[in-house]
Amino acid sequence: MKITLNINHLEYPLNLPEGERLLDTLRRLGIFSVKSGGCKKGECGACAVLFDGRPVNSCTLLSAQAEGHLIETVEKVGEHPEQGWKRTEGLHIIQQAFVDTGAIQCGYCTPAMVLVAKALLAKNPSPSEAEVRDALSGVLCRCTGYVKPVQAVMRAAAIMRGEQVHPIDEPIDISGALDFDKETRDGGAPLTSGGGTMTETKILPKLKVLDVHSPMKTVGHAEPKVDAVKLVQGKPAFTADFEKRDMLVAKVFRSPHAHAIIKHIDVSEAEALPGVAAVLTWRDIPRVAYSTAGQSHPIPGPLDTFSLDKKVRFVGDRVAFIAAETAEIAEAALQLIKVEYELLPHILDPRESMAEDAVIIHDEDDYVDFDESDPSRNLAAEIRVDIGDVEQGFAEADQIFEAEFVVPKVQQAHIEPHVVVTYWDEDDRLVIRTSTQVPFHVRRQIAPVLELPIKRIRVIKPRIGGGFGGKQEVLIEDVAAHLTIATGRPVIYEMTREEEFIGARTRHPMRIRLKTGVKQDGTITANEMYCLSDTGAFGCHALTVTGNTGHKAMALYVGDGKYRVAPNIRFYADVVYTNTVPSGAYRGYGVPQGFWPVERHMETIARALGLDPIEFRLKNALRSGELHPFSTAWSEGREPKPETINTIGLVECVNQGRMTIDWDHKYGNVDWHTVPGAKHLRKGIGVAMVMQGTAIPYLDMGGASIKMNDDGSFNLLVGATDLGTGSDTVLGQMAAETLGVPLEDILVYSSDTDFTPFDKGAYASSTTYISGAAVVKAAVKVAVQVRERAALMFGEQGQDVDPTEILLEDRQAIAPMGDAISFGEIALHALHQTDQIQIMAVASHMSPVAPPPFAAQFAEVTVDLDTGMVTVDELVMAVDSGVIINPVTASGQIEGGMTQALGYAVCEEMVYDEKGQPRERDFVDYHIFRADEMPELTTIFVETYEPTHPFGAKAVAEIPLDGVAPAVGNAILDACGVALYKIPALPEEIWRSLTGSTTDREA
Ligand code: FES
Ligand code: FES
Repeated sequence: MKITLNINHLEYPLNLPEGERLLDTLRRLGIFSVKSGGCKKGECGACAVLFDGRPVNSCTLLSAQAEGHLIETVEKVGEHPEQGWKRTEGLHIIQQAFVDTGAIQCGYCTPAMVLVAKALLAKNPSPSEAEVRDALSGVLCRCTGYVKPVQAVMRAAAIMRGEQVHPIDEPIDISGALDFDKETRDGGAPLTSGGGTMTETKILPKLKVLDVHSPMKTVGHAEPKVDAVKLVQGKPAFTADFEKRDMLVAKVFRSPHAHAIIKHIDVSEAEALPGVAAVLTWRDIPRVAYSTAGQSHPIPGPLDTFSLDKKVRFVGDRVAFIAAETAEIAEAALQLIKVEYELLPHILDPRESMAEDAVIIHDEDDYVDFDESDPSRNLAAEIRVDIGDVEQGFAEADQIFEAEFVVPKVQQAHIEPHVVVTYWDEDDRLVIRTSTQVPFHVRRQIAPVLELPIKRIRVIKPRIGGGFGGKQEVLIEDVAAHLTIATGRPVIYEMTREEEFIGARTRHPMRIRLKTGVKQDGTITANEMYCLSDTGAFGCHALTVTGNTGHKAMALYVGDGKYRVAPNIRFYADVVYTNTVPSGAYRGYGVPQGFWPVERHMETIARALGLDPIEFRLKNALRSGELHPFSTAWSEGREPKPETINTIGLVECVNQGRMTIDWDHKYGNVDWHTVPGAKHLRKGIGVAMVMQGTAIPYLDMGGASIKMNDDGSFNLLVGATDLGTGSDTVLGQMAAETLGVPLEDILVYSSDTDFTPFDKGAYASSTTYISGAAVVKAAVKVAVQVRERAALMFGEQGQDVDPTEILLEDRQAIAPMGDAISFGEIALHALHQTDQIQIMAVASHMSPVAPPPFAAQFAEVTVDLDTGMVTVDELVMAVDSGVIINPVTASGQIEGGMTQALGYAVCEEMVYDEKGQPRERDFVDYHIFRADEMPELTTIFVETYEPTHPFGAKAVAEIPLDGVAPAVGNAILDACGVALYKIPALPEEIWRSLTGSTTDREA
């Protein structure tokens, strides 16, 4: 089919296959700003382009339909401000606003958002916030919670109208502001649309500094992300934005059955299809048991997975791999594979997994046990932790409270699907370019699966379009790699959105029983949790995710008085196999599952005893200087070591959060709970307190290397993996602060197993803390060398200067008397002039402690008594994450995290029919929040100074997942008296409870 397309005002004469979609044509032309969210059905909006000025999803249009129309993409919206001798217009105002406001996290949705904003502002120069939200609602973002993208558009609109905008600088400092008034709540004056006014965008969190630390030049400042400019321009930064001659496209044939033996498989017709390069089944590749969990050596779980097997264990399990010249041929070949299955009984309910007569899901001889796994009982892991004397604690209680809670299976839903490219390089080493959180684990774990030594594999991690734990998995690399080995050719494998739902990983669903002993005054005497955790068909992360459920959620409330000194806590868990898509890592890593029951249970107890729910919690909560109760009892299958918690800002978090949401006015106020003129509505307010971890002690390690360039700038190479969180930026800030240069002089690169030092990867909230400490160590070593070189140069000038007295600041080495030598001069001297050396250093860091962040989460809801519909009106989170290295990236983590947690609370759930067929296979059935559906989000940081980190930081990335569901559940209870034990909080559930009807959803 011959057509001519007008793309960005250039004519493209093309000869295209019939029926090709515009998205595929654009990407084939190298217009990589147009992203695929894998849905290809207009659900995610990542592929949006402007079509005669209107945003449309290019995956829903045939290329032929675009002939005669103008197609615009971000490639022609603004350019890099500095392009050598060429003067440029710089970024478009909208792009610059996205950079300045921190609206870009992973950046995968950013080009589409910029185009949508451009179309909106062309039509409506003064949009209201609601209109901006409405316009952005067609582009799903899983990272930001939409707070900063909305503000970016409002800011750009103001600038385009000629208004002044407030500079983005320091966060709102609320130190000592215990009575700050309502006007300061949003972090600035309201936006206006009038001409000539000062406009302030509301992107910065409020910040309260508890432990005063000295002000710094880069750390603590709202530095723009180091990768923001390329991402806002839609540069080819992601795994799939890559061209390679003769690249094949891979597809996976997946099981339609929940549990079956493959009796016979015939791939001859598929192989014979012209354009098919290889079809692989279990007969064609080595059988190697491994774990897909991307974790340190030795893997703390069973080796129960094979690249391809003769048995399938869930609907969506892999049966065969295909590589073909095009995606269309590969799709056609899938239809030609014929499989004869012998169906086996399947298990969908984890309560049936350990029954005497249950079918065994892993009956293979080559299953490799880990510790307490027992495949004969469908048991992937077993945990038994006893701290103190729980039975004695119960005996000393005045009352015992017991309840059972259920949390669902949910999906990470990163907008960039899993995607990998593999090829042999000129040295016949296998290059794996992959969207992964764990490049070094991928290399180590995949080597035996491919029968290649580690040294013959190079893993490159480009930018990642979100991961949230879903990419802490060695899930796709083997598919492309086996096909590259089979064909000798480059292969790309990109999951579809349906594959993400039926064949990737999820959060572990759990059924949790709690039993708590309490004195009449509210002192907890003993606390017990039993957790039945469903790991699905494979045991990846089985032990560690579920262990975390107890390790964090059961650690917060130790009791008071003598119980505080010697708490009584029991945590038992069975992690069982079922015939469902495997569970795995998902941001929060087991802790959100634990805090739903714990915080709902605490609310029940406080109300039953007639105690204030906040005071009851704080009475029993951990305090600074106390031992982490689990640190003496459990450490992910390794030897536990006692750990004292130095910093706990929980009380101040509660103070700040309750003032911000106006708790004291609303809680218990009958009038506030009603809505004038709307008898069917009731308002409610709820709270939850939570803690997380910061890395895994004695295990997580990160490395960093820094070298000085001729102009005095520095390359910072880290194995740490920025998956959109901004970790490259905060690592760069710490290096810049230590070396006395602006952030722009630190060129951050992550990560490539050939060039960057080892890092265990992006998980367990560890990058700022572990990799950051490694960066600072390396920077300190480099700073020593810079000072020594400067002293040498001062000596050549006749000044005898002690290197240790030289100050590094503003790109200069400054002697005590005030004389200065620039870093550029120092670099040239060191590299070219006298006693030449490369100023450089490498360092690594491992921590014996994992200082937890703490937070108070508040929620305000409105419940419709007629329908059971819950509207979450406001979420306020006050967080103690230590010193905040970058308030914009950190608050972005909280906003995005609260939004994911909101989905967990009210709408996200993966359900299976009786045959094990998943109901949710796309973003229509699986709803994630859109820009126009969001409640108001407020982030407050209560800074403490964590003494075990060079800048006092703790983790921030995972804790926002923990408290939203219970705070919303408690707010629903407050609004209408419905006590929920299961999430998501579906309207029918609440309506049935309100009307006394029975529920068909079990609890
Ligand atoms: S809307 Fe086109 S890929 Fe999702
Ligand atoms: S920044 Fe929007 S999907 Fe990541």
